[in-house]
Amino acid sequence: MSVAYVNGAFRPLASAGVHIEDRGFQFGDAIYEVWSVRDGRLLDVAGHLARLARSLRETRIRAPMPDASLMIVVRETMRRNHVRDGLVYLQISRGAAPRDHGFPPDSVKPTIVITAKSMNRRELDRRAEIGVKVVTVPEQRWARCDIKSVNLLPNVLAKQQAREAGAFEAWFVDSDGVVLEGTSSNAWIVDAQGRLRTQPLSNRILHGVTRAALGRIAAEHQMRVDETPFTVAEAQAAREAFISSATNPAIAVVAIDSKPIGDGKPGPVARALRDYYLGALAAKG
Ligand code: PDD
Repeated sequence: MSVAYVNGAFRPLASAGVHIEDRGFQFGDAIYEVWSVRDGRLLDVAGHLARLARSLRETRIRAPMPDASLMIVVRETMRRNHVRDGLVYLQISRGAAPRDHGFPPDSVKPTIVITAKSMNRRELDRRAEIGVKVVTVPEQRWARCDIKSVNLLPNVLAKQQAREAGAFEAWFVDSDGVVLEGTSSNAWIVDAQGRLRTQPLSNRILHGVTRAALGRIAAEHQMRVDETPFTVAEAQAAREAFISSATNPAIAVVAIDSKPIGDGKPGPVARALRDYYLGALAAKG
C-alpha cells in the first residue's frame, strides 16, 4: 500500500489529505522539491536540500524541521513505499488558516507532505535511447522562476500543449526568441563549435540541481561549458540539444517544433554526459 507522510504521520496515500484551507491549495503558497531515486539511492541530497532552504528563505516559509530529521522522514517514505527507482516529492506550504492573503499568525505551522513513487527504469532508459521531441511556447510565467514554487499553471498548460503535439516537453521562449527552460527541465544545446550552452542562472529559470551536476561533470571531462543564452533558431541548427532534470538527466532532444536536430537521433555528447552522470553516482557507492 502506498503511504504519504503528512504533518508528522504516515497515512495511506488514498485517504491522506490536508486541510481545505491549506494555503498551498488556496493560494499556491507553497514550495516543493523532487529527488530522483536510482538503485535505492537518493540522488544529490545536498543539492536539493540547499535549493529547498533557498526556496523557503525566499518565500519566508518556516522550515518544518531540521534537514537531518527531514532526510530521515524522506528515506522512511521511500522505504515504506518500496521505491528503488523513482522519485520522492516533498511539498511545504505556509500552513492552514482562514483565507487571507497576508501571512497567517506565527502560531500556524507549515504543512509538510512527502510522497514517493516508483518509476519504470526501463522506460526512463529507453527515453534516453530514443530522445524526445520539444515544442516551443511563449514565456508567460512570473519573474521568480528561480523559486521552486507550486505555482505551475503556465507549466501545466505548456506541458499539455506539448503532449497534444506529440512532444515530451515544451520550452519557454522569451520575446527575443531566447530559450529559457522547459516546463520541468533545463534546456541545453551543443553548438557548432562544440560548446555546451545553457541559459545562465538568474530569476528567469529554476536553478536545476542536475544542471549544476552536468556542468561540473562536463568541466571534469574537458568539455567547454558556456552559460550563454541561445535562441530557438540556434537550437534548431545545433549539433545536439538535450534536457536535464532529476528524473531525466541529459535526455537528447531530437526535434524542436518538428525540425530535426542534427541527424534526428540522440547525439554523442548528451549520451556521454548521461553515462558520466549515472556512472559517477554508481561510483559513489
Ligand atoms: N522539475 N526547470 C523547471 C521549471 C523544473 O520544474 C525542473 C525540475 C528543472 C530541473 O531541475 P532539477 O535538475 O533540479 O530537477 C528545471 C521537477 C523534476 C518537477 O517539477 O517534477
